[in-house]
Amino acid sequence: MRVSVQDLQALKDRGERFAVLTAYDYPTARIIDELGIPVILVGDSLANVVLGYDSTVFVTMDEMLHHTKAVTRGAKQALVVGDMPFMSYQTNPADALTNAARFLREAGAQAVKIEGGEVMAETVRVLTDRGIPVMGHIGYTPQSSYKIGRRVQGRSLEDARKLVRDAQALDEAGAFAVVVELVPTELAKVITDRIKVPTIGIGAGPDCDAQVQVISDILGIYTDFVPRHAKRFVKLADAMREGVKGYVAEVMDGSFPAPEHGSSMEEEVLRELLKDL
Ligand code: KIV
Repeated sequence: MRVSVQDLQALKDRGERFAVLTAYDYPTARIIDELGIPVILVGDSLANVVLGYDSTVFVTMDEMLHHTKAVTRGAKQALVVGDMPFMSYQTNPADALTNAARFLREAGAQAVKIEGGEVMAETVRVLTDRGIPVMGHIGYTPQSSYKIGRRVQGRSLEDARKLVRDAQALDEAGAFAVVVELVPTELAKVITDRIKVPTIGIGAGPDCDAQVQVISDILGIYTDFVPRHAKRFVKLADAMREGVKGYVAEVMDGSFPAPEHGSSMEEEVLRELLKDL
């Protein structure tokens, strides 16, 4: 049975932490899903870690839908959340509803994520009242990075109060979970203790109800740079380099492909063929 938003709430209510990961393609989604991870986020980090853009503002609805479709084909159990790209939901709630529905109907996701706190509460309400589960996202919100800068948010009293209000506004508006990115550990705990729904931290310390990471960061695929909030558990880029080097070397020295990688025809057929030529 697929994980539901109620299952996630039950995990928070029982005090059980859970892990969330991003995925952008079918094979990765299959692996994560088979490992029983309850939530897969098709993050708009797709822009940076897969498509090579230098900001998430460049990724489009079509690109997000294309990758979300691949992930939903691979994920049989996990709740798949499609990340709504820049300006697909900020303009007005009606456009947000139309675009969110595309993630469910065309791409097969079960929920969407949007960035922003109080300012997005009305939109969250419109979507959730119409049956679309919404994950909120506060703190450092990459779609606003040109304005807020890529830095820890909520260090001052005023900013911290604002983030608590943002989280409460999303909770009251019906969000089923709230991503809390790059905020001090103490503030993430205050937020986690004060809202009903699960907080999902990234760069927000260990006291959130769940954690999310960009898969390329934990597997070491994308660059040699590891963000401070991430930990590289393996370095797949090295394994990939080794694999590619091995393949090229064997092609060049003629040892690949070996007989077992090909097929052969009957001698008589070959003889007849050569006669005609
Ligand atoms: O786009 C993304 O991957 C995200 C997560 C980092 C939360 O928004």
